[in-house]
Amino acid sequence: MDKKLIVYYSYTNNTKKVAEKIQKATGSDICRIETVKPYTGDYNSVVDQGKQEVDSGYKPAIKPLSVNLEDYDTIILGTPVWWYTYSPAVATFLSKYDLSGKKIIPFVTNGGWIGHTIKDIQKVCKDTIVSNAIDIKFDTDKMIMPESNLEKWIVRL
Ligand SMILES: Cc1cc2nc3c(=O)[nH]c(=O)nc-3n(C[C@H](O)[C@H](O)[C@H](O)COP(=O)(O)O)c2cc1C
Repeated sequence: MDKKLIVYYSYTNNTKKVAEKIQKATGSDICRIETVKPYTGDYNSVVDQGKQEVDSGYKPAIKPLSVNLEDYDTIILGTPVWWYTYSPAVATFLSKYDLSGKKIIPFVTNGGWIGHTIKDIQKVCKDTIVSNAIDIKFDTDKMIMPESNLEKWIVRL
């Protein structure tokens, strides 16, 4: 049987909201990626810090996951876009854990500039099948993509 796990990182909780919606609809297990050191300061300073981290390829330490990835065949991977790519916490996750042989289904929340996020996930997830990715736009904390589009995508998971 194809066992699915939702793994996500979320800073301002948009990705969390989507992850929980997917969880509710599919009944899959769910796991949040958390950095050891939380991002602090106002939003704009985190945006600046994020730029430095993305530009330098910095991978923040993350807390151990609450699940064993070996138990799953498919990873539904959620990330916000940070400077046109996946977030540094997800970079850590992807470099730390061996996902080879698994199917990866990315869901990517963003403010309208997704950049090369999905291509970058495909590039780094070697020996996996990355498919069915979805780009979910938000205006601050309001989802712009129609709910029905997201629901149609969830049904196909
Ligand atoms: C450090 C940082 C960088 C961001 N860079 C982008 C970007 O390049 N393109 C974009 O569309 N949105 C960007 N955003 C906005 C987030 O991708 C968007 O608000 C996302 O839904 C946040 O998800 P979260 O609430 O799960 O953290 C950035 C936000 C932060 C904090």
